[in-house]
Amino acid sequence: MQGWLIPPPKEPTKTKEEFRKEREKKVRWLIRQGYLRSERIKDAVSKVPREDFIPFMHRDYAYSEVPLSLPGEEATISCPHSYPLFYEPLGLDADHKFLEVGLGSGYGTALAREIVGPEGLVVSIEIDPLTFEFARKNLEGEGYNDVILVKGDGGLGYPEMAPYDRICITAACMEIPPPLIEQLRIGGRLIAPVIKMGIQNLILLEKSEKGISQKVVCQVLYVSLRGIFGVSED
Ligand SMILES: C[S@@+](CC[C@H](N)C(=O)[O-])C[C@H]1O[C@@H](n2cnc3c(N)ncnc32)[C@H](O)[C@@H]1O
Repeated sequence: MQGWLIPPPKEPTKTKEEFRKEREKKVRWLIRQGYLRSERIKDAVSKVPREDFIPFMHRDYAYSEVPLSLPGEEATISCPHSYPLFYEPLGLDADHKFLEVGLGSGYGTALAREIVGPEGLVVSIEIDPLTFEFARKNLEGEGYNDVILVKGDGGLGYPEMAPYDRICITAACMEIPPPLIEQLRIGGRLIAPVIKMGIQNLILLEKSEKGISQKVVCQVLYVSLRGIFGVSED
């Protein structure tokens, strides 16, 4: 996997209309590249203003394919293509009860809220207090007041609302935290970057009556999971 060249911070100059056009163009690109396939995910990406989840001095780069730093330790908003990359194989859909580990900017949470719709539920957990506050304000500002935001270690999940139809871990782990597998419904799916021999594989896990199956979707590059099931420094 390669790294990214992050553009330098600068005062934003783009208008809402310019961002809207960039979003439309990005949706067309994501479809052409094969990342975006389902109508609900396409509608969500078309609707949520990604620029409103980006720190002020990087706002103009909202639709560039780079991860951008967020307030807090090691938090980033992932590249635009990362969201359909995770949500399409996950099969995130209407009415799902969805758990996200790694709230970050709140952008992925907003997309998920649009995808699951009024009968679904979104719970998102963030371990970093500064990042949590940043996301909370972004989501409130965009009117996403009906998502459950939890400050804490997402490796432990959120048993209060379990079982979940779908779970997404947005930080790289050495193993999928067992509490998350426990909190997944039978018939449910979980997606996560898992590190093996220094490489991060995006793993899609399915839980059935017969047990757990896993497959590799592709290689990715994500910040490390923290907390009890986190990646140790040594
Ligand atoms: C790649 S960023 C998430 C991007 C986010 N989905 C978005 O749309 O902006 C990964 C996030 O996981 C958080 N994180 C790391 N370990 C965590 C843990 N154990 N529990 C909850 N959040 C964690 C990081 O602080 C960071 O905000």
